[in-house]
Amino acid sequence: MVFPFHNSLKASRIKAKIDRDTAYPKHIAIMMDGNGRWALRRGLPRTAGHYAGMKTMENTIRICKKNDVKILTLYAFSTENWKRPKAEVEYIIGLIHEFIAEDTLHEMNRNRIRINFIGDLSRFSTETQNLMRNAAALTKSNSDMVVNFAVNYGGREEIVQAIKGYLKEGSVELSEEEFERYLYTSECPPPDLIIRTSGEKRLSGFLLWQSAHAELWFTSEMWPSFNEYLLYKAIHEYQCRKRRV
Ligand code: IPE
Ligand code: IPE
Ligand code: MG
Repeated sequence: MVFPFHNSLKASRIKAKIDRDTAYPKHIAIMMDGNGRWALRRGLPRTAGHYAGMKTMENTIRICKKNDVKILTLYAFSTENWKRPKAEVEYIIGLIHEFIAEDTLHEMNRNRIRINFIGDLSRFSTETQNLMRNAAALTKSNSDMVVNFAVNYGGREEIVQAIKGYLKEGSVELSEEEFERYLYTSECPPPDLIIRTSGEKRLSGFLLWQSAHAELWFTSEMWPSFNEYLLYKAIHEYQCRKRRV
């Protein structure tokens, strides 16, 4: 039998081992994978997994804020994900709408969290693009934490559009620093830690340039089952790797 306090006890035990002063990850990026499998294992439609995944995502933002993670980048929809059945794609876009609805934005403002979108937004409908721009504009001055949502994001697409941007406007000789100014993440340092749920161990196009020196952490848990304990576990292992202890 699993006692109800089992998870929170496990979480507080591992949290106590985390050093907040040294090698604390400033930027965590998460590949929120496994919604479909989570649902199918429960005899539910894949969409139920996406809904549960959104609730987990909202909770993860709260946990990260509480734990002083300054930048959180979430892979929500890839350039490849358009190949899924139309109904599933529409459901996911509907969830994005729900996420950036007014009450969430109020919560973000109360918690001084800035929302940003990275990816090629031009593929979305005008309505969706406007909602995304509105969410970014309304939270723009919040400076405690940044949440980047990667939507219609693909690392290769990002690099190609950066090259195009540089060719069009670049005036300074090309260097790594100059190139980074044209990436979607130009305002952020690269991620320190990249987490992928669901047991898959690949990047699926996520932050191809920015992941060069990141630590990668994998868990076989499906995204809707991600929790505080797993986040602390990832941070703790990240710190152990950094210090080679
Ligand atoms: C991740 O879960 C969410 C998105 C890609 C939008 P999946 O939908 O990929 O779930 P699995 O990997 O099929 O279980
Ligand atoms: C990666 O997951 C994209 C997101 C988490 C949004 P996928 O499920 O789309 O990736 P593959 O197909 O397993 O590589
Ligand atoms: Mg998947």
